[in-house]
Amino acid sequence: MSELNRFIHARHWMKSNENFLTTWHAHVGYKLDLFHHFAENTSVSQVADHCSIDLPLLNRWVEVGLEVGHLKKSVRGKIKAKKKMVKYASAQSSESVGILLREMMELHIPALLEYPELMKSGERITYLEDKFAEVVAETSTLLEKAAVGPVLKWIKKEQPNSIVDMGCGYGGYLKNIHDRFPDIQLQGVEINKQVCEKAEAALGGAVPVYNGDMVEFIESFNNKVDLVMAHNLLYYFPKEEREGLYTKISRILNKGGSVTFITPVMGAKYGQTFTTAFNTFMTVHDNLYPLPTLDEIKRDSKKAKLKVKEVTPLIKEGGWYLVTLRKTK
Ligand SMILES: C[S@@+](CC[C@H](N)C(=O)[O-])C[C@H]1O[C@@H](n2cnc3c(N)ncnc32)[C@H](O)[C@@H]1O
Repeated sequence: MSELNRFIHARHWMKSNENFLTTWHAHVGYKLDLFHHFAENTSVSQVADHCSIDLPLLNRWVEVGLEVGHLKKSVRGKIKAKKKMVKYASAQSSESVGILLREMMELHIPALLEYPELMKSGERITYLEDKFAEVVAETSTLLEKAAVGPVLKWIKKEQPNSIVDMGCGYGGYLKNIHDRFPDIQLQGVEINKQVCEKAEAALGGAVPVYNGDMVEFIESFNNKVDLVMAHNLLYYFPKEEREGLYTKISRILNKGGSVTFITPVMGAKYGQTFTTAFNTFMTVHDNLYPLPTLDEIKRDSKKAKLKVKEVTPLIKEGGWYLVTLRKTK
């Protein structure tokens, strides 16, 4: 009986891990833009030649693709990618979500695989900011699609005259705000040079973007604004520094001004599977830090004279929330 149970469990694990093969296949296809090259019926050797890639390995990738349903084979033996793969997993498609696969396969999974050694040694790895800044800024633009509506709604309600976007990434929020409310004075802040340059290009000169650390920016800022946005950013700051961070943000806010945080919230109602995984990823690094709970945000921001006003789920299964706060004094 115990042998049978063992067999059943082994089958169960094999079966439940099958999805990983689908993800791996899509990841490789995205990375080498293979779905694009197989957009029309094509022979495998033609693609191997055209892309200068190893034919036996490409053949294996094609076999997997036929199995997991990403590719089809014609009667003449030519291979064609399914339309949805060309659309959503080709780097050059405007609707591509492949960058999420890249972030998961190149950043999250390798970090999580270090877990046993790190648990034993108590050491941490370092998040390679230069290597992944553009990947992370790009995946954030996918979240932005869900978040921009609620952010614009908050802005419509608050009617700020001036906004600073801390860690603005590719500047998507600033662009949306500028298009909708052209009279609001906007400023971006972005630490990574390449990301900053892309933000400037995307904003076409309409919004200045400061290339540097947001804390340095705040310290040299002699002005006050009505709204500070800090989206997808809190985990760059250790928990014990967050109260100080909120105080700094509060210092450049006009009375009655507000803050928008976008972050996964630990212990919140929605999306805890993703949030716990994300938190685990943060904790294996010595330069990324655990996600906040709502109580922590409330407690730390209170000391900064900020009061949590609204907590809106953005992507329930992902655990992402928009948390708005208002300066009380
Ligand atoms: C995950 S991305 C989010 C981008 C954008 N806020 C969004 O939500 O789409 C975080 C961005 O913050 C930038 N960043 C991190 N620490 C920063 C700091 N101390 N000062 C300014 N920018 C920072 C990163 O380079 C990255 O582009």
